[in-house]
Parts: sequence; structure tokens; C-alpha cells
Amino acid sequence: MGYPVSHSRSPVIHRLFALQTGQNIQYELLQVTPQNLESAIAQFQRTGGKGLNITVPHKTEVLRLADQLTERAEVAGAANTLIFQNGSIIGDNTDGIGLLRDLLGNLGLQLAGCNILILGAGGATRGIIAPLLETGPESITIANRTLEKAQDLAERFGDSANVTACRFNDMPPSTHFSLIINATSAGFKGETPPYPAAAISDGCFCYDLSYGLTATPFSRWAAKHGAARSVMGWGMLVEQAAESFYLWRGVRPNTSAVLKQISVTAS
Ligand code: ATR
Repeated sequence: MGYPVSHSRSPVIHRLFALQTGQNIQYELLQVTPQNLESAIAQFQRTGGKGLNITVPHKTEVLRLADQLTERAEVAGAANTLIFQNGSIIGDNTDGIGLLRDLLGNLGLQLAGCNILILGAGGATRGIIAPLLETGPESITIANRTLEKAQDLAERFGDSANVTACRFNDMPPSTHFSLIINATSAGFKGETPPYPAAAISDGCFCYDLSYGLTATPFSRWAAKHGAARSVMGWGMLVEQAAESFYLWRGVRPNTSAVLKQISVTAS
């Protein structure tokens, strides 16, 4: 369920998972306006639906419609997966684990002791800070157009003094970032804000949470400014889907074959 939702690749991904694992599933796109979210979920439950993915703009609103939340959904402040079990609705979030599986597993990054820069301070950033902290980085810097939103997030995860906030044009000097993640929604609007080009130093890996059939504005920007690699979020998309599939069906699909089938990587 999303609004809009017609661009979603999830039906293709879940169809491929189902074929691969021999599961009999039906996964359809449901375009649901914010006003109709509650009744659409209730109707889905009444008609025997087993699981839902929830996407923009409903990921936060849906929290209050679940009977139970997993810890990772609570910390992320958002749910992308609902599980309908024994008459109750469990809200979970598989985005963070999806990102980690892509970065650490598919792409082979090692983040312990590294400095990570996240661009943007909206819902997407909130969802990935806790999972990234689990990898043991030296620091996480959140850079945002609006400083206050980055500061709010840094304080929320404030037990870890290694999470700090700044503006795009006020980066901490001489920090070598191993990984820069674009979590802004600027690319959806075709915009390339004045990202901090000086933050890209030797060997820097750039990752865009967004993805497209052609390079996203951020992945083009990163390649142009000397990133060692610039990758779009296809892997995260497939990995979060695999985790949801596992929650619903109890079977873990092989993601690498599906990732090859659906993705285009900007280099
Ligand atoms: P949410 O995820 O909370 O719904 P959003 O409006 O989609 O929020 O924005 C997500 C992030 O993208 C925010 O950090 C936003 O910056 P601001 O906090 O300054 O609004 C960032 N963003 C969106 N468009 C942008 C642009 N053109 N330039 C810079 N940052 C942008």
C-alpha cells in the first residue's frame, strides 16, 4: 500500500521470490490515500490478507494502526511490513536490515571503525541510524539542509556521542568518510542540492537509498566528484523485500539471483 504506488517494483520481486521458493502467493499494488489507510488495512485483514508492505507516505502513520510493534519498527519510527497473525497486526521494519545486508553482504563493506556521512534527516535517515550503529562505526555525521532536523535525530540517538549533526556547507573538517549515504528525497524531485563534494575523499563509497533504471542525480553527482564506487539502492530494495517475505512465509529467498534480474548499477 502506498500513494502513489504504481512505480513499485515489489510485485516483480515477490513474484520472483515465490517462483524460486515454490510459495503460492498473490502480491498486488494497492493505491491508498492517507484518508483511506485505516479502512483499507481493515478491509485487507477482513478478506484474509496475510501481510502488507507499507510505503510512502504511510510508513509512520501505520504505527498507530498496528496492535504490536517490533523494536526495530519503534526505533525507526516507521513500519514497512505488517504481519496479520491470529487476528492481530504486527508492525515491523525491514528497511534497516535490508540496507545492512546489502552494504555488508552484497557489497562487502566493512564499517567497524569507519566514519559514515548521511545526507538528509527525514524518515529514511531515522530508519537507518540504529542499524548502522550496530556495525560499530567510529562516527555518524548527519548533514541536512535544515540543521534543526539533523540535530533532533542526533539527539534522539544521543546515547552515542558519535552521532553528530551539521549543514551541508558546514562539514567537520578533515574527516575521511568511508561511506556517504544519500537519504534525502531530493532525487525523487529530480533535484541535486549542493551536497558537500569535499566530503568525498579517496576510496569513498557512495550509496543512494533511491534507485532508478538510469543513474539517480545523487549517484551521478557522486561519480562525478570522485567516489570510488557509486551504487543505487536496488540491493536494499531486494533485501528488505526478502526479509518481509521471510516474515510472512518462513522461507528465505536467495536474493542475489533476483537482484541481478531487476537491477541496474551505476558505477
Ligand atoms: P520525510 O522523510 O520526513 O517525509 P522529506 O520531506 O521527504 O521528509 O525529506 C527527506 C529529507 O530530504 C530531508 O532531510 C529534506 O531536507 P529538509 O529537512 O531540509 O527539508 C531532504 N530534502 C528534500 N529535498 C531536498 C532538496 N531539494 N535539497 C536538500 N534536501 C532536500
